[in-house]
Amino acid sequence: MGCGYDNVYQARLAAEELRSEINRHDYLYYVLNQPEISDAEYDELMRKLRAIEEHYPELVTPESPTQRVPGQPVETFGVVEHRVPLLSLANAFNFEELRAWYRRACVLGEVEGFDMVVEHKIDGLSVALVYEDGRLVQGATRGDGLRGENVTENLKTIRSIPLFLRGNDVPPRFEVRGEVYMPKDAFEKLNEELAARGQKLFMNPRNAAAGSVRQKDPRVTASRKLDIFVYQLGWCDGPHPRKHWDILQWLQEMGFRINPNNVLCHTLEEVQQQWERWVEGRYQLPYEIDGLVVKANDLDIWDRLGAVGREPRWAIAYKFPPVEATTRLLDIRHNVGRTGTINPYAVLEPVKVGGVIVKQATLHNEDIIKSRDIRIGDWVVVHRAGEVIPQVVGPVVGRRTGEERPYEPPTSCPACGGEVVRPPGEAMRYCINPSCPAQAFRWLTHFVQRAAMDIDGLGEKWIEALMREGLVEDPGDLYYLREKRDRLLSLERMGPTLADKILRNIEESKKRPLDRLIFALGIRHVGSEVAELLAYEFGSIDRLSQASLEEISRIPGIGPKIAESVYQWFRNERNRKVLEKLRRAGVNMGDAASKEAKDGPLKSKVIVFTGSLKSMTRSQAQELVRRLGGMAKDTVTRNTDYLVVGEDPGSKLAQAQRYGIPTLSEEEFLDLLRRHGVEV
Ligand code: IVH
Repeated sequence: MGCGYDNVYQARLAAEELRSEINRHDYLYYVLNQPEISDAEYDELMRKLRAIEEHYPELVTPESPTQRVPGQPVETFGVVEHRVPLLSLANAFNFEELRAWYRRACVLGEVEGFDMVVEHKIDGLSVALVYEDGRLVQGATRGDGLRGENVTENLKTIRSIPLFLRGNDVPPRFEVRGEVYMPKDAFEKLNEELAARGQKLFMNPRNAAAGSVRQKDPRVTASRKLDIFVYQLGWCDGPHPRKHWDILQWLQEMGFRINPNNVLCHTLEEVQQQWERWVEGRYQLPYEIDGLVVKANDLDIWDRLGAVGREPRWAIAYKFPPVEATTRLLDIRHNVGRTGTINPYAVLEPVKVGGVIVKQATLHNEDIIKSRDIRIGDWVVVHRAGEVIPQVVGPVVGRRTGEERPYEPPTSCPACGGEVVRPPGEAMRYCINPSCPAQAFRWLTHFVQRAAMDIDGLGEKWIEALMREGLVEDPGDLYYLREKRDRLLSLERMGPTLADKILRNIEESKKRPLDRLIFALGIRHVGSEVAELLAYEFGSIDRLSQASLEEISRIPGIGPKIAESVYQWFRNERNRKVLEKLRRAGVNMGDAASKEAKDGPLKSKVIVFTGSLKSMTRSQAQELVRRLGGMAKDTVTRNTDYLVVGEDPGSKLAQAQRYGIPTLSEEEFLDLLRRHGVEV
């Protein structure tokens, strides 16, 4: 196929234009987080450039964006001598130590006080990138600080590392330093893939990033999702700003990705506020940090303070309590999930991780336990990733005594003693006893939760009591509790006020929209998003329960595994009985009208809300969207059509901006509704 240009001169011009266009979009996307075009449009630019370069190979330049494709594997990496050593940092583990550092720096620097730049201390690996005449010529690891490995080819595959720089202010030759890291979600995904292939897993995102950059085969590096934050000017031939803060801005203008969370602080108290903000806030970040780096802003102070050994006096790492700790794995036990899954969990010798005491941790499934070779009695590394339950990362093999016992998965249900099976192709074992009380309990707690039928007041304790007294066996029974009010009142610590409140909330829940009910049914693999799709497509439980496997699979976004699970759920005798109870009680099971709404003016439009609205509640707004045939969703994805932004918007706004999704103010949203005849 031709490339659309008659001669090499025209083609050269076009290629140059495309390269600078692509470079600009890379900058907007990776550095500023403000893309102007869609992924598809970006791909189209790349396709055109590739076509030209294929037709005229002599036009390919080493820094063309097409050259991010990985080169040939190498036997060993070359050695790079760092012109200026890469230093490491001294640590401060509390405010006292931070203050001691600051005071000493003031004395030695002969100043009263100084401004500081506070940055995240990213948990990755540091690299040094050399640019000549605006082009990336070398990328190296830190190594021992004096000598590192030449990993240029691998680093070129990281899209946020610019291959050539922007602007007229670029020094002839200089080096920048930064941290290459693997985002948390990419790390989780990578480990899942490695586990599925039976390969060795990475302990943490840092090891995964280091392992990926130091791959002999650049194709492997290219397949890993890596990113960079540039945090320092290494050395520079040519003039540059004399304040670190200004250097970071200057580097960003040239095209480097600078952490948007960097702040300039004037006092130690401001630094402390940052520490307090991020010690908990770190769990919401897409990457791991183990502290803050505090740097004097003025480079004159750097020069005056110098370094002791490998540690500069003008910077310090202000660490957080570690999220990882080692402890003994005392036992592996199991709980039974809502759909009968047998979930192994670790019983640990209590240990402090990230500031809290941890006694239990998840172990996911038996394949992961096997592939990590975790044995009972092992010393294990425990990792706390935030709100979620801590995880056992792996054993400390060197501390084994020989007394450790390998894990044996259970052959009968730990809750009811029933039969346990492991379906082919699945990582979990399941209890298949339909009347397993542990499953019923989980189903009930799932059914009443906020995102499902939202029955306030029915906590786990009450569900346990109701089950013990034989008042409920499944979610359907909840709607007949009214008839058993006396027995409800006979429960220990249950008074008439509470009982009536619970009964009222149960009544209220009958009106929940169809998608909530579908989610509440607890069908395996059906989360709120899938439930919304099913509600939108079928409009009622009747239609959904009669749908064929093909009809369900045809819905975009629903894979064969989900379709099979939904289809089978409605074929199950016990489930049908529960549905019948719900129907008789008058629970909303959708109707044809909601199906009709599909052809409404917001047909197929996906709308997400963030922040609070003044004129209505979030669920009222979502209901209106549904009435007009649109889909109201909770998370922003590339498929979102509009984000409605209320007061105090959350992180969804940044996400939408990243994907270039249009936003509507509350007023604009109301206008949209009014235009479609809704009175608001
Ligand atoms: S500055 C002299 N800034 O932490 C300055 N380092 O223990 C040394 N790191 O090897 C580096 N985030 O790999 C700096 N914002 C940041 C950093 C950072 C992570 C790493 C870097 C370095 C280690 C120092």
